[in-house]
Amino acid sequence: MQEKFSHVSYHAFMHMKRSDHEHGPPIVPVVFHLEDPAGLTSTKQEQWDLMGGVGEHVLEVAMDHGINIEHACGGVCACSTCHIYVVKGMEHLSPATEAEEDRVEEAPGLQRNSRLSCQCEIISNGLIEIRVPSWNRNAVKEIPH
Ligand code: FES
Repeated sequence: MQEKFSHVSYHAFMHMKRSDHEHGPPIVPVVFHLEDPAGLTSTKQEQWDLMGGVGEHVLEVAMDHGINIEHACGGVCACSTCHIYVVKGMEHLSPATEAEEDRVEEAPGLQRNSRLSCQCEIISNGLIEIRVPSWNRNAVKEIPH
């Protein structure tokens, strides 16, 4: 019984990234700039002006609006496929943990404003601008499932 339950939870988690936890109303502006809009959204729209809630992760905001940032590990800081650049508003995001810092170093194209989008939680209200690099779509292919 116990075993079955954990399997179900794990399975659900790997397909998550919708509102799987409580967060505030969508009052925080989050602007996404996509280097490869076609690959991430099947549209040509490069700039997406979205709203997120305090307590929500950048990855969730993107996924909830159809921006399919790769998240091979399901958002548990165990890959680096959800790598993004924070162009503005780093102060409105939770600071990187040591685990995130170690992990993000594996991402191609590492910059000083590199973060893992599944680990960036919105902590206060103010403009946040994110750039999603074009190789985001390719990185996952190198990760065995
Ligand atoms: S989805 Fe794997 S680290 Fe963010």
